[in-house]
Amino acid sequence: MSATLPPMATAPAIDVWLLETRRWSDAALEASLTRCFANREEGLFVPARLEEAMRYAILGGGKRLRPALVRLFAEELGGTADAATAPAVALELVHTYSLVHDDLPAMDDDDLRRGRPTCHVVYGEALGILVGDALQTLAFEELARLGPRGAELVLVLARAAGARGMVGGQVLDLLPASRPGSPGGPEGIRAVHRAKTAALFAAAAEMGALVAAAGAGAVAGARRFGLALGLGFQAVDDVLDVTGDAATLGKTPGKDAALERDTLVAALGLDGARREAAERAQEARAALSELGLAEGSLPFLLVEHLLQRRS
Ligand code: IPE
Ligand code: IPE
Ligand code: MG
Ligand code: MG
Ligand code: MG
Repeated sequence: MSATLPPMATAPAIDVWLLETRRWSDAALEASLTRCFANREEGLFVPARLEEAMRYAILGGGKRLRPALVRLFAEELGGTADAATAPAVALELVHTYSLVHDDLPAMDDDDLRRGRPTCHVVYGEALGILVGDALQTLAFEELARLGPRGAELVLVLARAAGARGMVGGQVLDLLPASRPGSPGGPEGIRAVHRAKTAALFAAAAEMGALVAAAGAGAVAGARRFGLALGLGFQAVDDVLDVTGDAATLGKTPGKDAALERDTLVAALGLDGARREAAERAQEARAALSELGLAEGSLPFLLVEHLLQRRS
């Protein structure tokens, strides 16, 4: 997404909000890295090359959607952006680690990410692996720094990022034969998308609700919204891999076909995948209505924005 926007008076409200929230996320991530690198307790320190590679991976763009979701739900459900900061940072650290590893030769073997050469292309494969490891552990350090009230957030993030969540989904993506249902069928692909992408979206909305001290019903509603939004988001990602161009996407299009990956486009065709995205968006809207949020409010605008996105 470009940082250049039309004048504030004419820019859609969601674009203005996303730009402001991206700046907020960037500042919080910068602060997190700076704190990490400044810590020299017991003579331990982050090696300069690792510091450089971590900065490269984290501070080089990205839409910052998962932090935005944390903040959105925190604020919509009565909390503050301040309370959302640590979980927002933690989610983006985990998400970025997942991208660095996703791009490795052993996985999708991509050389373009966020409009720049991928981390392993610049720093080598070993550092690519270790940068991912370092970002992931820093994410949990950020939540643990909250003390006892961070424990619930650690649990939510660990479950979403781990073997049953993002990591499991990445495995299912690589090993179609181990999926539930027949390989190549839409149900199996949905199971992959639920784990590799939607789990982190659900965790983002849930963490926002949790830091707003929302009740159990609202927390569950936020999760339902996040899951539907994440499924729709990955459906659009599959479509953009076919229809997008590298300059707009900031990553190489056509990778899914080149790697013969099962995608919703492969299973349902372009129109079918678009229809799937629209259905998930409708489920996301329904979850928002159940939460009592008004049509036309930021969460509704975000659903539309992600359905229409080009990058
Ligand atoms: C890319 O996520 C990986 C998927 C889950 C499809 P994003 O499209 O949110 O990537 P960035 O963070 O903006 O680079
Ligand atoms: C990756 O899905 C989802 C992750 C957990 C990183 P993709 O492989 O489709 O993501 P892109 O298209 O490379 O961003
Ligand atoms: Mg992949
Ligand atoms: Mg990939
Ligand atoms: Mg993709």
